[in-house]
Amino acid sequence: MTAPSHHAYVPFVSVHNMMRLVLHVGIERVLVDLAAEIAADFLRWPAFDKTPRVASHSDVGVIELMPTSDGQTYGFKYVNGHPSNMKQGLQTVTAFGLLADVATGYPLLLSEMTILTALRTAATSAMAAKWLAPAGATTMALIGNGAQAEFQALAFKAICGVAQVRLYDIDPAATRKCAANLRGYGLGVVSCATAEEALLGAQIITTVTADKQYATILTDNMVGPGVHINGVGGDCPGKTELHRDILLRSAIFVEYPPQTRIEGEIQQLDADHPVTELWQVMAGQAPGRTDARQITLFDSVGFAIEDFSALRYVLGKLRDTGFCEQLDMIADPDDPRDLFGMLLRAA
Ligand SMILES: NC(=O)c1ccc[n+]([C@@H]2O[C@H](COP(=O)([O-])OP(=O)(O)OC[C@H]3O[C@@H](n4cnc5c(N)ncnc54)[C@H](O)[C@@H]3O)[C@@H](O)[C@H]2O)c1
Repeated sequence: MTAPSHHAYVPFVSVHNMMRLVLHVGIERVLVDLAAEIAADFLRWPAFDKTPRVASHSDVGVIELMPTSDGQTYGFKYVNGHPSNMKQGLQTVTAFGLLADVATGYPLLLSEMTILTALRTAATSAMAAKWLAPAGATTMALIGNGAQAEFQALAFKAICGVAQVRLYDIDPAATRKCAANLRGYGLGVVSCATAEEALLGAQIITTVTADKQYATILTDNMVGPGVHINGVGGDCPGKTELHRDILLRSAIFVEYPPQTRIEGEIQQLDADHPVTELWQVMAGQAPGRTDARQITLFDSVGFAIEDFSALRYVLGKLRDTGFCEQLDMIADPDDPRDLFGMLLRAA
């Protein structure tokens, strides 16, 4: 049997290699780099194919495909969201993704994306807050202390200059885990017994809880003027975190309106409620925060372009680090029409 041609091999970044790569570069450096990578793609937003993600819902969760292309490179992510998984010792969110060459359709990269999603979500949140949060914000309430939480805390530290995080989770064990993991990063960490306590003195509020229902993590009376809300956990039909009245008082910024209107906090509002696309703020085409008393809300659901940027970043890093394996993934016979012959010759 002859060895596969070099076209057969696709670089594959396993969980093991993703962890090596992130620790080699440094977690905060990766978050800063990813925010820059995502910002660069948001600034060329019109160049991308865009579609709301394709979702398959069940009673307990959702499985989604998130495709996009800039005409040269195509990418997609497979991701699930199953809030009940945690009780079985499983992750709420897992993911993997692929980049491919548009010219041939051949894959360029296959990668784990559970860790990469946590990193890119946090980098996107902090990137948005750089544009929208009140000037000089240094304290962030972090409600929901599960898998995504530490990534959010470190992204806001590295990208926005947040110096103190105030943690709250309905499960105190999650808060203990998060506080312990954040030790040694130079962040002030305060563990709180209630969501109200977590909000004390916070100029930024991140909600990153998981529950498949219309939850009310924040009620209207909890949110004072001038804060920035980074709403991460409301990302599915029937799964929100904020009371509707907060939305009615906020200037709302979103990734891709056709997807966010289905999945985000704004599913609670009329279909024509005004929202601003974040990329337009970044491109100078729409205003961001306009006054110090305004409540700004980044209604984050996660969009395919963020995953595309993150995968491209990882592919670029492989050239220097080699943290990947070569997968024999594409059947590529020497004579492209002799796929059957290739199979017979393997006997
Ligand atoms: N917007 C995005 O791009 C994006 C990306 C990834 C994940 N998410 C979403 O972020 C959320 C968190 O993901 P995760 O992987 O950290 O999940 P996780 O299950 O690991 O953690 C969620 C935490 O929320 C806590 N929680 C649940 N209800 C709460 C409440 N009422 N008050 C306070 N805490 C509460 C749970 O105890 C748990 O510790 C999920 O809803 C997920 O779908 C969004």
